[in-house]
Amino acid sequence: MLQKVRKAVFPVGGLGTRFLPATKAMPKEMLPVVDKPLIQYAVDEAREAGIEEFVFVTGRGKVIIEDHFDRSYELESVLRERGKSDILDELQNSLPKTGTVAYIRQQEPEGLGHAVWCAKRYIGDEPFAVILADDLILSDKPCLAQMMEAREELGGGNILAAMEVSPEHTSRYGILKPGYDNGKIIEVKHLVEKPEPKDAPSNLAVIGRYILEPSVFDILENQTRGAGNEIQLTDALCSLLKNSPFYGLRFDGTRFDCGDKIGFLHANIAFALKRDDMNQAVADIIREISSDL
Ligand code: UTP
Repeated sequence: MLQKVRKAVFPVGGLGTRFLPATKAMPKEMLPVVDKPLIQYAVDEAREAGIEEFVFVTGRGKVIIEDHFDRSYELESVLRERGKSDILDELQNSLPKTGTVAYIRQQEPEGLGHAVWCAKRYIGDEPFAVILADDLILSDKPCLAQMMEAREELGGGNILAAMEVSPEHTSRYGILKPGYDNGKIIEVKHLVEKPEPKDAPSNLAVIGRYILEPSVFDILENQTRGAGNEIQLTDALCSLLKNSPFYGLRFDGTRFDCGDKIGFLHANIAFALKRDDMNQAVADIIREISSDL
């Protein structure tokens, strides 16, 4: 029987240099899109996909992420006194159950591959998901849930989220070399980190959602430093795909790079326009501002 994916890793140890000065003292993952921090979207997505245990790989300056996923008794009692039961319920329901959250400290930001490796002892010998909170996806069905369904159809294997990007932008992404491709599921033959357009094997980019077999940890253990002198997850995945089935899923949805200022602003507008309580007001503001341009 197919082993269930029960655990998810959230690497949140990066420095967020593209978003300075906002990220000097505040983790990038706590930046709010409309009224919810990026990391809360990521955890909600994982829960909706059936994830039961949540492993955060953190670093210096990230403790407010731990506070965010904790009870706040003073705040709760004030909300109760003031009769604000809707927001109180929302806050309480947004927390993963006690005993299902773990924080592991990545003492130095040595790269995404290293951050994932830090979760090795906690994950053990079972398949697991990785979610990068700064890749925010607007979709009817959460992206990780779509990937779980694809995994069921495929009978297992490693899966990553893939999307087509304009060919001139390949150097911003990990790019996959496709084999079999039925328009939804793509066999991954190879991965190249940030290739120039002339060297790119396709325009299919890897987005920050992965379901991985635990054998990736043995590879990461011995992974040498790659681009940017960091231990790259993409390099380890290139080794993994030689011995383990590997697929990309063209997910349904729109992805926003919230680690980038423009991507983040775009996400705020797109998510606000989806909200019944504010879409009219936001549309009016956009019309008013753009008429002055
Ligand atoms: P990024 O490539 O966006 O790097 O990391 P970054 O440091 O967060 O941001 P910039 O590029 O300097 O602006 C992708 C994901 O991997 C995590 C980040 O937190 C982010 O979720 N990461 C990266 C780690 O957890 N540890 C690392 O050592 C590096």
